[in-house]
Amino acid sequence: MDLIIRNAALVDTKRVDIGMKDGLIAAIEPKLDATAREEIDANGSLVTAPFVDAHFHMDATLSYGLPRVNMSGTLLEGIALWGELKPELTQEALVERAMQYCDWAVARGLLAIRSHVDVCDDRLLAVEALLEVKRRVKPYLDLQLVAFPQDGVLRSATAFENLKRAIAMGVDVVGGIPHFERTMADGAESVRLLCEFAAEKGLRVDMHCDESDDPMSRHIETLAAQTHRLGMQGRVTGSHLTSMHSMDNYYVSKLIPLMRESGVAAIANPLINITLQGRSDTYPKRRGMTRVPELMAAGVNVAFGHDCVMDPWYSLGSGDMLEVAHMGLHVAQMTGVDAMRACFDAVTKNPAKILGLEGYGIEVGCNADCVVLDARDPIEAIRLRAARTAVVRRGKVVSRSPAVRAALSLEGRPSEVDFKIRR
Ligand code: FE2
Repeated sequence: MDLIIRNAALVDTKRVDIGMKDGLIAAIEPKLDATAREEIDANGSLVTAPFVDAHFHMDATLSYGLPRVNMSGTLLEGIALWGELKPELTQEALVERAMQYCDWAVARGLLAIRSHVDVCDDRLLAVEALLEVKRRVKPYLDLQLVAFPQDGVLRSATAFENLKRAIAMGVDVVGGIPHFERTMADGAESVRLLCEFAAEKGLRVDMHCDESDDPMSRHIETLAAQTHRLGMQGRVTGSHLTSMHSMDNYYVSKLIPLMRESGVAAIANPLINITLQGRSDTYPKRRGMTRVPELMAAGVNVAFGHDCVMDPWYSLGSGDMLEVAHMGLHVAQMTGVDAMRACFDAVTKNPAKILGLEGYGIEVGCNADCVVLDARDPIEAIRLRAARTAVVRRGKVVSRSPAVRAALSLEGRPSEVDFKIRR
């Protein structure tokens, strides 16, 4: 073997040794009788398939403070700020910031990211930059790109042509933003146009959909119906879907089954939507995040995305999908045991399915990609935002972090704490 991780706890609590060879998981056994060039003793820690972020904006990331900071922290000032920044973007700076973010991601055990890339700049500077980043990070991170017409595919005169050019250049997924078109009819038309284009090209679709507090923003219905009509089940995703939070319950009782039957996946972005939605409310203030537990209960595949890190819309973040899961769990009040575990799935296997990642998982024959966490199970991992003591890509350790320990100097008390209950 190239690498063996011994005494690993899997998400289902099984204790195993994991052997890796030639970039693949070659054996998973209670006691693996083999040797390897390198061994890691997980000592009962959780070993999981890598984190996956199904919704991100890598063209804007780490631009915090350029050309100024978002003083109000609102969506509108963020959009204005992005408009100020766009003409100043250079390809070199975009590549450098995205590469730095990918370093952070790897250190956090985040080895697959779906990033939207704005195609409304006729130069397609960001598209070129992120295609270059995709090529450079390929050995250690799967970067999937979505052609995202930020200003609206119908509202912006050149957006559809630019989107087609971006796809021809190698961008993977068709994006959209129907709620940003000028009328509801235009929004529905944009969904039809983009879904037909994707169906013709055999591509996946991921639209920013109904990211508003307006309960009448119902483009997810059209997206699901078009998915069904075009036979694209399992290949289409609605991102954000925050208007669902404010919709009439009877309408939602029809909508969710339509989404499930259409095989449309949903992505909630808890860190961003808890801060940006409900901003015009006084009190009570709406939370804005889509109906995560209800969608999951109906059998819709739901992931949590990071959306933004240190950009015009969000000043915080570090690429930590456990922080995302932690926030999602709180906002959705998913504090039951199964619900907390489901929040862990929402940053691992659920988004992996949305991206269509091949060879994902801790099973023999899967890619030898995993994360060793300083936690014993998924719930403890979320609670502690546990350190990634080792991150493995294709059987090679690509990052290590120390476990978090505090040294105590208290008479009659232990000399160290690790924030875990002694059992
Ligand atoms: Fe987004």
